[in-house]
Amino acid sequence: MARVFITRRLPGDAVDRLAAAGHEVDVWREPSPPPAEALREHTAQADALLCMLTDPIDSDLLEAAPRLRAIANYAVGSDNIDVDAARARRIAVGVTPGVLTDATADIAFALLLAIARRLPEGEAAVRNGEWTTWEPDWLLGRDVHGATLGIVGRGRIGDAVARRAEGFGMTVVHHSRSSGIPLDKLLEEADFVSLHVPLTPETRHLIDAAALARMQPTAYLVNTARGGVVDQDALAAALHDGTIAGAALDVTDPEPLPPDDPLLAAPNLIVLPHLGSATHDTRRAMAELAVDNLLAALDGKPMPNPAS
Ligand code: NAP
Ligand code: GLV
Ligand code: GLV
Repeated sequence: MARVFITRRLPGDAVDRLAAAGHEVDVWREPSPPPAEALREHTAQADALLCMLTDPIDSDLLEAAPRLRAIANYAVGSDNIDVDAARARRIAVGVTPGVLTDATADIAFALLLAIARRLPEGEAAVRNGEWTTWEPDWLLGRDVHGATLGIVGRGRIGDAVARRAEGFGMTVVHHSRSSGIPLDKLLEEADFVSLHVPLTPETRHLIDAAALARMQPTAYLVNTARGGVVDQDALAAALHDGTIAGAALDVTDPEPLPPDDPLLAAPNLIVLPHLGSATHDTRRAMAELAVDNLLAALDGKPMPNPAS
């Protein structure tokens, strides 16, 4: 029997499979994440951890958890975990790929359409009485059909966004390390740039002031990857001075973004609260994969979905 610490309540009943397999389950039941000290105390007594992307799992925390042998992140990204430090301690780390691909691609495309066609401005105008009559030249946006979409990081989600874009009559170009066109060329050509790389030392601030300056002044940036992929100060400046036409973000740095963060004062910006995988079915499926990872590791087997 192993002791499993789960840092939030999860949708669905996947967690029941841990108890059914004879494991002792400790679930953090508060409505917000465990504070650092609580995370440390509960993890210190656990053989396995099921954590969220909001839980920083660093080498100090691992050092304080001598029994820990498995970590299942409730996310496909693993940038909140020091994976090298875990490996050095022979702790298996797993993620939840695939099951959230379409839900996240849908949010990327929803953001693309919303920023191009100015949906939040239109919705606000209806509610605040600013809409007085149909106007030939009011709230004009950009055509999506016929535009070029530049996908940065063409993996599972990048590919799913490309499929949607083809259905909408867009031309798709992409940049990854192993395929596609150089990033500079993509930034120069694209009417929409959509980010789908993992956050790594290599991709941190991949979109900085120089990258934004390469984009067209009529182009939009969509980010559903991680906030840290974009230099947010440079993005705020680019929106204020018209270097790019707009940005639509599902992810920021930090999360949550404080309501007085200077980024929120920038024009032509949509920000969502990290909703990429937020559908009932997707979040249940993620719980199943996370539990599959833990059950395998606790049984001495390789995790079916290890972090890369
Ligand atoms: P994936 O299948 O591993 O795709 C990532 C792609 O990025 C890979 O194909 C890789 O191709 C490329 N890449 C990696 N490093 C790169 C670099 N330095 N420069 C250019 N391309 C690079 O992952 P995924 O399942 O699509 O997920 C992608 C990311 O989306 C996750 O890591 C996570 O951070 C984020 N995400 C966000 C949400 C949300 O709620 N907003 C939901 C799910 C995922 P090469 O190896 O050829 O470079
Ligand atoms: C969400 O952001 C994930 O990485 O699954
Ligand atoms: C708009 O609603 C139109 O009919 O053109």
